[in-house]
Amino acid sequence: MTIPYLKMDGIAKSFPGVQALKNVTFEASQGEILALVGANGAGKSTLMNVLGGNIEPNSGKIYINGKEVRISSPSDAAANGIAFVHQEMAMLPTMSIADTMYISSFPYKHGLIDYKTIYQRCRVVLKRLGCNFDPRERIRNISPGDQQMVEIGRALLHDPQIIIFDEPTSSLTSREKEHLFEVIRTLKQEGSVIIYISHFLDEVFSLCDRVMVLRNGETAGGGLVSEYTNRDIVKMMIGEKEIDTYYERSEHRAGEEIMRVKGIYRSGVINDISFSLRKGEVVGLWGQLGSGRTEVARALVGLDPIDGGTISIKMGDQMMPVKQSETKKYIGMITENRREEGLLLPMSVCNNMSLANLTNLTKKKPFSSVIDSKLENSETDKYVKRMDIKISSQAQRVETLSGGNQQKVIIGRWLQKNPPIYIMDEPTRGLDVGAKADIRRIISDLAEQGAGILVISSEIEEIMSVSDRYLVMKRGSIVAEFGSNASKEDLVATATGAASKKE
Ligand SMILES: Nc1ncnc2c1ncn2[C@@H]1O[C@H](COP(=O)(O)OP(=O)(O)OP(=O)(O)O)[C@@H](O)[C@H]1O
Ligand SMILES: [Mg+2]
Repeated sequence: MTIPYLKMDGIAKSFPGVQALKNVTFEASQGEILALVGANGAGKSTLMNVLGGNIEPNSGKIYINGKEVRISSPSDAAANGIAFVHQEMAMLPTMSIADTMYISSFPYKHGLIDYKTIYQRCRVVLKRLGCNFDPRERIRNISPGDQQMVEIGRALLHDPQIIIFDEPTSSLTSREKEHLFEVIRTLKQEGSVIIYISHFLDEVFSLCDRVMVLRNGETAGGGLVSEYTNRDIVKMMIGEKEIDTYYERSEHRAGEEIMRVKGIYRSGVINDISFSLRKGEVVGLWGQLGSGRTEVARALVGLDPIDGGTISIKMGDQMMPVKQSETKKYIGMITENRREEGLLLPMSVCNNMSLANLTNLTKKKPFSSVIDSKLENSETDKYVKRMDIKISSQAQRVETLSGGNQQKVIIGRWLQKNPPIYIMDEPTRGLDVGAKADIRRIISDLAEQGAGILVISSEIEEIMSVSDRYLVMKRGSIVAEFGSNASKEDLVATATGAASKKE
């Protein structure tokens, strides 16, 4: 038998209150793409952080090419040819692309940073990824998809043998995604070991050769992708938990108008956006990445300025115009970008969950501004249970939760506040299949209780399974509206422009 190029043997890691990995053994060979899958909190990122030298395991050994290696820092990992494309990019918006890519490894010449070499090398690597950016461009001036490409470029700088991708596609357009897959396939042909973490099983089936499933920090199974069905893998991930409701459509009964948006615009970003939202209704805002969906959402809650237009919200029995800076009081915004806009990472789960609801949690004495911590804890507990958030205690810092569980904290926060209107921008990004189904059920429940909900999602099945109506965006405008009987083709064709060619 040939020895695998990479072997992790008996890896265990515990954090205060949680055994994240229990005796995990993991192997991967050159020239293969190995999918690493598992529910939120299963231990995928932790296992790869051990390999990448970011986390020291409590026990276990790592072998490369049959030889035991010590990896106790990211530079040890790099020296062993291991590169990591992280789940959540931590980039400074004001830094240049070149500095971001080289931050941990600036080359020097005559005592000075050798920018000539840096720029040259950046251009070569980025070109390989199909990007023609100027390496001197600032990070803040490029799209999230392009930022992700920079992160991948950084990983490829030193020609690694083992490349770990932790959910790399969540901020990519379908074109960028196809391109990334091509790059990954080329790397595989060149003999690299590719480890690919994803919650998108269709990606696993189209891209990967083998799959390994983690469940609660243990190996739950694995083998050749071609020998499994989607269902087999989901079962290994979450057990026998019912998954049939995953794509079931739910319908809601829409009531009276609750929000009316009239002609809001921002020069060069969104044009003449008008629509209305009713109680008990879920409206899907559909469009390609970059079509302006997120920009509309951000404008509605005052995160980005608008140049004109009005937003009215139902108060009592009247529609009242509301200043952009005030809409937050009535709208719960669940964002796709949890690092930037959602969470206070160094703070506890409890503090993060009560953030939107502080006025209701203060002691009911006149002029009191003291938080009733018993109430705060019991409310947090309620939503931790309802959302099945995996935490070791309410005091756990949010930055130490798994990616999917961080997303659940944001959703739990708004459920606690219970606003009349919700805007959800990619609410299930990074969630496992079971959790996605849970969120869809929660959206349905909220609608049934009378909330008006605007949902943005890049997953067509997801948006179709919750929406009663669709607004389709293209180049900053709403270009079409469909009822619940819209087909997938209707939505895709209108958003991509294929339909207008036919006309
Ligand atoms: N620094 C830390 N301190 C405390 N607990 C941690 C820390 N890092 C991870 N954990 C815990 O370890 C467990 C595994 O987390 P991990 O991030 O590996 O999950 P994951 O499989 O990557 O999940 P996801 O799909 O949600 O990203 C979780 O319960 C998480 O809260
Ligand atoms: Mg993770």
